[in-house]
Amino acid sequence: MAYVVTDPCINCKHTNCAAVCPVDAFREGPNFLAIDPLECIDCDACVAECPEEAIYPDDEVPMEWVDYIELNERLADEWHDCVINQSKEALPEVDKWSGVENKREQLIENWK
Ligand code: SF4
Ligand code: F3S
Repeated sequence: MAYVVTDPCINCKHTNCAAVCPVDAFREGPNFLAIDPLECIDCDACVAECPEEAIYPDDEVPMEWVDYIELNERLADEWHDCVINQSKEALPEVDKWSGVENKREQLIENWK
C-alpha cells in the first residue's frame, strides 16, 4: 500500500505534506506533488497536513481519481531527482484553484 496525491493538489501545492514525511517520499513538479509508492511507509502523517484534502491511502482513493494511483507512481519515477522535504509558499493562484473540481487537464507533467 501507499498514499496517493489526488486532483485537489493541482495548482494549489501547499507543500505542508512534504515537510512531515519521515522518508522523503514526495516529489515536486511545477503544480503538483506526487508520492513515490516505493518510498511511502503508510505512516498517515501527511493526510491531515493537506488543507485541500488531496491525500488518500491507495485503497480509499475516490472512484473518480483512481487514475492518480498510477499517475503518482509514474510521476514519482519521472521526477525522481525532485525530492521535496520542506514546506514553501503555495502557488500564487491557490485561492482561485482551491476547491475547483477535476483539474486534471491543468496538470503540468512534461517539464523536464
Ligand atoms: Fe510520507 Fe507517511 Fe505520507 Fe507516506 S503516508 S507519503 S510515508 S507522510
Ligand atoms: Fe498538494 Fe496538499 Fe501537499 S495541496 S502539496 S497534497 S499539502
